[in-house]
Amino acid sequence: MKSTTSNSVYFQPSFGNRPVQIVGRDSELLDFMRGLDEPPGSRDRCTLILGQRGMGKTALLLEIADRASKKGFIIARVTAHEGMPAAIIEQIQLNGSRYFDNTKNVTGFTAGALGFSFGLSFSEPAQQQYGFRTKLSLLCDKLAEKDLGVLVLIDEVFASPAMREVAASYQELVGDGKNIAIGMAGLPYAVSGVLNDRVLTFLNRARKVELGVISVQAIKAYYEHAFRTMGIKCSDKLLESAAEKTSGLPYFMQLLGYYLTLYAQDSLAIDKSILSKAEESSIKDLENNVFKPLLAPLSDNDMIFLNALAKCEEPLTINKLQEQLGDQGPAIQPYRKRLLDAGIIESPRRGELAFAVPYLKEYLK
Ligand SMILES: Nc1ncnc2c1ncn2[C@@H]1O[C@H](COP(=O)(O)OP(=O)(O)OP(=O)(O)O)[C@@H](O)[C@H]1O
Ligand SMILES: [Mg+2]
Repeated sequence: MKSTTSNSVYFQPSFGNRPVQIVGRDSELLDFMRGLDEPPGSRDRCTLILGQRGMGKTALLLEIADRASKKGFIIARVTAHEGMPAAIIEQIQLNGSRYFDNTKNVTGFTAGALGFSFGLSFSEPAQQQYGFRTKLSLLCDKLAEKDLGVLVLIDEVFASPAMREVAASYQELVGDGKNIAIGMAGLPYAVSGVLNDRVLTFLNRARKVELGVISVQAIKAYYEHAFRTMGIKCSDKLLESAAEKTSGLPYFMQLLGYYLTLYAQDSLAIDKSILSKAEESSIKDLENNVFKPLLAPLSDNDMIFLNALAKCEEPLTINKLQEQLGDQGPAIQPYRKRLLDAGIIESPRRGELAFAVPYLKEYLK
């Protein structure tokens, strides 16, 4: 008999979704939630999550949102863009409204002094005249009446004027003792740039969480659990080798799990040939969904740089790259910086380089 559990339950290889279960991020989640127990203004209430593409930043923010809202926080989850301050206000109003009676005053009378007309909606004058900071402050006060805090979650963060406004307001509100916290996520080099910029100072002072690959053991345990529940047989050795093939990349874990389940649908057993077929399909998806869009905007010289780097023997060093490029190649420094900023390469140590995403080197080769 075929398994009745659809493989899409355990494995959903797409971006920006919330996985059924967050694998291998227990300590990151615990630390974040612990920070929310600290009093307003504590450094642990301002977190910056940094990680490469597909490492699970958005998934982690979604899980945090869920846990924090159960803990009495109203969540404003936004992606960094110019309209972010207004979006934060709207999100708080929307997500906090269930705690308030939203029936509109039939007489149309508005309590203008407090700035609200009904529920978390601002009176017309407040809506028109007040800026982001004042509105956020009023919302914090109103929510505090019901013992609720505010958690602002910003995905794909980078230093921008909108971010400057949010950072400045956050600091002022914290100074006023409001029950507010902030969690941000972005690519590692989102925080690089001109050092004296106020936003960068804010980001640099935040508690930083480097989101690396997840443990192969945690992935193996998840595969084991998922396959067993779905009635799919898989030997311990193959579980181990499947987990190792993911290189700890959460997106690849989802892909490989998805294809393994798909190809084992009829036999309800995973063997070597299913594993290698699933690996092949996963790599294809990784190429199409991550590598191609990642490389598409790059210039010819960027590609010359990357292709030369892919040809170097490990560990990759600037010297080896220079040799590989030869005298006619593009100057290294500007391309190095551009590709670091784009999250394509990393610099694990001075003078050394590495590809930021597993399998990218093989793909370029
Ligand atoms: N800890 C995890 N456990 C299980 N699945 C995860 C985990 N982290 C991420 N995933 C899954 O991996 C995929 C990529 O995750 P996500 O979209 O969060 O990456 P990201 O870091 O935000 O990438 P990008 O920088 O491109 O936005 C998604 O399908 C997500 O559900
Ligand atoms: Mg994301």
